[in-house]
Amino acid sequence: MQHLVLISAVASNGVIGTQNTLPWRLPEDLAFFKKNTVGHPIVMGRATYESIGRPLPGRCNIVVTRNAQWWPGELAETIPCVEAAHFQFQPQVKTSVVICTSIEEALSVAKRINEASPEGKDIFVIGGSQIYEALLPHADALILTHIHHEFVGDAYFPHWSKSDFKEVWRENHGATEERPWSFSFVRYERQAHT
Ligand SMILES: NC(=O)c1ccc[n+]([C@@H]2O[C@H](COP(=O)([O-])OP(=O)(O)OC[C@H]3O[C@@H](n4cnc5c(N)ncnc54)[C@H](OP(=O)(O)O)[C@@H]3O)[C@@H](O)[C@H]2O)c1
Repeated sequence: MQHLVLISAVASNGVIGTQNTLPWRLPEDLAFFKKNTVGHPIVMGRATYESIGRPLPGRCNIVVTRNAQWWPGELAETIPCVEAAHFQFQPQVKTSVVICTSIEEALSVAKRINEASPEGKDIFVIGGSQIYEALLPHADALILTHIHHEFVGDAYFPHWSKSDFKEVWRENHGATEERPWSFSFVRYERQAHT
């Protein structure tokens, strides 16, 4: 069974971004994100793709935009890029970009990749705000890096109800001299209501 997983780093005031970038520097979180998502399809909004600025290696980068003319920047020139209508799964292609003009199209591409690939059973939704909001109702799991500090920002993780999810795993990390705030990696899974 495929799982739709939202993965995000969220400040204690809900902030996830500022001026189309991350408000913090947290290399441990980038490594955690990479460990979780490599080998799986990742779904993101056009703004998040542009914020990263290049396709993330070892993953099919599924980018959602309403602009049918949009094309990834020059850093994607050596990477296979295709519109969803022309997408065909090729197991030897580890890094690619697929451009989708709706969220439904993005999910359909991600499902086709997972059905064809022996490894990948999770689809990761990697942001930003608009895409998390649209896909939260369909999420089977959330992997959140809770940053125990408030940041100034303009992009937020959507409101979610803790009673819909159960915490199944947590790893706490204390503050350090260079980083005066602590953080926790937490996995939540959707609860079946009886
Ligand atoms: N902390 C974290 O873990 C994390 C993760 C990811 C991103 N972020 C931050 O989040 C911020 C970006 O979030 P955002 O909400 O501004 O942008 P976003 O969700 O990344 O992208 C928004 C864009 O996605 C496209 N889109 C949205 N809904 C669509 C739909 N239903 N159908 C087709 N296309 C659709 C539109 O692109 P077009 O305008 O091209 O039509 C829209 O402008 C940045 O600050 C980034 O750094 C943080």
